[in-house]
Amino acid sequence: MNSVTVLDKTFHLLISEQEIKGRIKELAVQLKNDLINEDVIFIAILNGSFMFASDLLKEFDLPAQITFVKLASYQGSSSSGTVKRLIGINENIENKTVVILEDIVDTGLTLELIKKQLTGYEPKTIKFATLLLKPDCYKGKENIDYIGFNISNEFIIGYGLDYDGYGRNYPNIYINKVIKK
Ligand code: XMP
Ligand code: MG
Repeated sequence: MNSVTVLDKTFHLLISEQEIKGRIKELAVQLKNDLINEDVIFIAILNGSFMFASDLLKEFDLPAQITFVKLASYQGSSSSGTVKRLIGINENIENKTVVILEDIVDTGLTLELIKKQLTGYEPKTIKFATLLLKPDCYKGKENIDYIGFNISNEFIIGYGLDYDGYGRNYPNIYINKVIKK
């Protein structure tokens, strides 16, 4: 499909399923080369990264642990408003090579807070893999080790990404803007 309408918005094809799968194969090769002798645990951040994690990890044919966590928002007692906390970490990650799997990095705030919370569990190292990065928005200091695609600062859906909870199921990635390829 070249475009999809979700709720009140129309989105246009940006990255096809074939392009995504091809790039993911390349990322998996890079990961295998880098992590061959490491005790690896992949931590996928739900909900958005479920398709990326599934396709990437099928290509990562080395022994590794895989777990899924979620960022829960709750109202903080301070004036800073909403606080996000990682929930669902049940595995022992001490001395392990942690690879965080994200669907998209925008400002980098989410990534920073994930790193801060996981550092407390004393892993050997924490690496980041994201399918998508909006480089014009990224303000973080963290190095992002594996990046699938750099995209412009527009809202996107599909392949795990949602608009108000809808649209995660599409195998392609769509953008809320008309683009010329
Ligand atoms: P930060 O700014 O913390 O944001 O790096 C990362 C989180 O923001 C969400 N996000 C998006 N979700 N389409 C989406 O469906 C987008 O274009 C988009 N941009 C940012 C996403 O939840 C991500 O984890
Ligand atoms: Mg979202």
